[in-house]
Amino acid sequence: MSQDYTVPEEAVAAAEVPEPGAVTIVVPTFNESANIRRLLHQITESVPSRLPCEVVFVDDSTDDTPDVIREAARDCPFPVTVLHREEPVGGLGGAVVEGMKAAGSDWIVVMDGDCQHPPSLVPDLVATGERAGAGLVVASRYLKGGSRAGLAGSYRVAVSRGATWLTKSLFPRRLHGISDPMSGFFAIRRGDVTAEALKPLGYKILLELAVRSRPRAVSEVPFVFQERFAGASKSTAQEGMRFLRHLAGLRTADPLARMVVFGLIGLTGFVPNLAALWAMTEAGLHFLPAEIVANQFGVAWNFLLIEKLLFRDRRRHRHWADRTLRFALLANADLVLRIPLIALLVAQFGLTVLPATAFALVITFVLRFAGTEALVYLPRRSRTARSTA
Ligand code: GDD
Ligand code: MN
Repeated sequence: MSQDYTVPEEAVAAAEVPEPGAVTIVVPTFNESANIRRLLHQITESVPSRLPCEVVFVDDSTDDTPDVIREAARDCPFPVTVLHREEPVGGLGGAVVEGMKAAGSDWIVVMDGDCQHPPSLVPDLVATGERAGAGLVVASRYLKGGSRAGLAGSYRVAVSRGATWLTKSLFPRRLHGISDPMSGFFAIRRGDVTAEALKPLGYKILLELAVRSRPRAVSEVPFVFQERFAGASKSTAQEGMRFLRHLAGLRTADPLARMVVFGLIGLTGFVPNLAALWAMTEAGLHFLPAEIVANQFGVAWNFLLIEKLLFRDRRRHRHWADRTLRFALLANADLVLRIPLIALLVAQFGLTVLPATAFALVITFVLRFAGTEALVYLPRRSRTARSTA
C-alpha cells in the first residue's frame, strides 16, 4: 500500500489521526540532508510491517534538508511530514516538542536523524511500553546488551559519563529507573506529555520530559548507539553550557529547592568576603571599614552566581543596574538588620547570644531570599496593563 505522500506544513493539525496504538516518529533535523534517505529506508524496512507509523521531521536546517525529505518521502509507505521552523526556539528540544504537538497517535518515538538510533527498535519500544503499562520507554546505552559504540572518542565518552552522573545525582527520585537520562531515543505516550509545562533548552529533551512531565511508569530497552552515518555532530561546547543552564533551571523549579541553592550560593560568598577582608586588613585598613567593603565582594559574587544560575530566566523584568542596586541594598540591609534583631531577641525574648544569633541569621536569610524573589526578580505588572485596566 504505497502512497505518494508529502504533507504540507498546514496539513498537520488537520491530519487524520492514525489507527490507535500506532506510532508517530519525531525526528529533529539540522542540516542532515545526507542521512535522510538512509533513515527513511531503514524505517520502511523495519517499522510498518510491525506497527503502523508516520514520521514527523521538525527541521531547523539552513541547507536543503526539507527538500530532500519531501523527495525521499515519495517512496515511503507511510505519511511523512516536514515542519520547517524559521525561528528555531529551544534548539533540538524545542523542535521535539513541536513534533510532539503535531502527533496524532497514542505513542510518540523520538529519534535522531543521523542513523545513530536503529529504527528496528521502534516497535520494541512501543511493545515494551504497552506490556509494562509504562508512559515512557527509554532506549538505554547503559543496560546489559546496550552500548555507546558510536560515541566518537574518549573525550565524548568521559563528558557523557560525567553528565549522566551529575544529572542522576541531582534528580535521584525523578530519574529512578532511568539508566540513560541523556538518551535521545525514547518512546512516550502522547497522554503523558504535558507540552505546556515544558521549557525545552537544547539537547536533553528526555531529561526535560522525565522531570517536568513525570510520566506514570518508566521502562528501558537496551540499544547500541551506532556510528553517525554522514555529516558531523551538531553538539558544541556552547551546547554544553546550555545543558548546565538547563540543569540549573530544572533543579530550581520549586521554591524550596531555590531557597537551598540561594543558601548554598550565599555560603560560597564567604570565600571572596574573607579573602577581601584579609587583604585589606593586611594592607593596614581598620577592620570596620574593611568589613563593610569586604561584604561588597561577597555580595557581588553572590549576585553574579544568582543571576547566572538561579534567576537566569527572570532577569528581563528589570534593567541590570536596577537589579544590582536592589540586590545590594537587600544584602546590606541584612547585615544592618541582624544586630538590632539579635539585641531584640536577647533583651525581649530572653535568648542567650548564640541561639539569638543563629535565629537572627535564619530569619534574615529567609527574609533576604523572599525579598530577592519579590523585589528583584518577580515580573512587574506592566504599565500598559494597568493603564488600560
Ligand atoms: N531541529 C533541530 N534543531 N534539530 C537539531 C538541532 C536543532 O537545533 N540540533 C541538532 N539537531 C538534530 C540533528 O540534526 C540530529 O538529527 C539530532 O538532532 C541529534 O543531533 P547530533 O548533533 O547528531 O547529536 P549527538 O549525536 O551529538 O547527540 C545525540 O546523542 C546524545 C547521546 O550521546 C543526541 O541524541 C543527544 O540528545 C544525546 O544526548
Ligand atoms: Mn548524532
